[in-house]
Amino acid sequence: MKKLRTGIIGCGNIFPMHAYSIQALENGVLTAVCDINHARAEKAAEKFGCKVFYDYKQLIDSGEIDIVHICTPHYLHKEMSVYALEKGLHVICEKPMAIDRKDGEEIFKAAQRSKGRMSVIFQNRYNPGSVFAKQAIKSGKLGRVLGGKIIVTWCRTQDYYNQDAWRGTLDQEGGGVIINQSIHSFDLARWLIDKPLLSVDASIANRMHPAIAVEDEACGILHFEDGIDVQFFTTNNFTMDDSVSVVLHMEKGVIRITGDEAVIEYATGEKEYKNVDNEPQIDFGTGVKGYWGVSHYKQIYHVYKAFIAGEPDDTLEEGFRTNNMICAIYENARAKL
Ligand SMILES: NC(=O)c1ccc[n+]([C@@H]2O[C@H](COP(=O)([O-])OP(=O)(O)OC[C@H]3O[C@@H](n4cnc5c(N)ncnc54)[C@H](O)[C@@H]3O)[C@@H](O)[C@H]2O)c1
Repeated sequence: MKKLRTGIIGCGNIFPMHAYSIQALENGVLTAVCDINHARAEKAAEKFGCKVFYDYKQLIDSGEIDIVHICTPHYLHKEMSVYALEKGLHVICEKPMAIDRKDGEEIFKAAQRSKGRMSVIFQNRYNPGSVFAKQAIKSGKLGRVLGGKIIVTWCRTQDYYNQDAWRGTLDQEGGGVIINQSIHSFDLARWLIDKPLLSVDASIANRMHPAIAVEDEACGILHFEDGIDVQFFTTNNFTMDDSVSVVLHMEKGVIRITGDEAVIEYATGEKEYKNVDNEPQIDFGTGVKGYWGVSHYKQIYHVYKAFIAGEPDDTLEEGFRTNNMICAIYENARAKL
């Protein structure tokens, strides 16, 4: 079986989800890691028995990898993705695709020109509840989507923002609770509805984090084609990370996604429920199998398979649509500040 030789740029928090996923793949092999933080890069290289680089361009130019995973702060996604695509490599980039509309468009155009292909990570589309909800909508058994709501009530203290210099900054993180935490739920709702976003009415505020430059709370309405309105409320000021919730109301019932799970309640009173699938559980370095879920593994597996076989994969286009939606929310909200 053909294996893609993989390099990962960025050995921080999200690195294990990528490294252990690749280790579990039959069609990929982790060949090199890269970080400007030498100690982090060396620790990761030693753990995964691979080469170490400290400069991402040297890694991409090395000729030793076919695909690069970008796990760095948001503002670096554009320069790293474009550089790799111009050198003909495949790219998997962590969310968000970019920190503004222009950078997203530049990446998208570079991917269209490249002989490499690209995917943007939104692993929650692969959760059992998300897949179940998507299939139910596609089957037509619930009729049309009429509207919905997104609730993300999480907790991020100042200690979280103090971890790394890029967090809480407009130029490097690109925003706050919208672009970093609730982006997954925005993506999920948009992907399930699968209609163009027509306009947005949004408000953002910083209520409880005076030391950061970005929003810690946001609310508003997304107006999709066909009169589908989705209300949202998202905050980093809650007492704890509550389960995120995406609810769609439809002609013949309601879909409630809470965390990984989905419940479909029909107008008849009948209910269907999905919270597990048959995918293998992976220990992402915590000593507990399945602790982190396996959805990073699933997206990476599907993308590698498609890239190797030249099969279709829409995770770049879907990531680009979400990037444009997030930018539309910020554009509308910032104009009111
Ligand atoms: N999909 C998810 O659920 C999920 C969860 C967490 C983070 N993320 C995303 O993953 C990305 C990274 O987040 P994180 O929490 O791991 O951040 P982090 O700060 O923990 O790690 C980033 C790493 O990038 C390195 N780095 C910075 N500049 C670099 C450069 N020029 N060259 C090479 N390395 C460089 C840093 O030294 C650091 O080790 C972000 O886009 C974030 O939004 C996604």
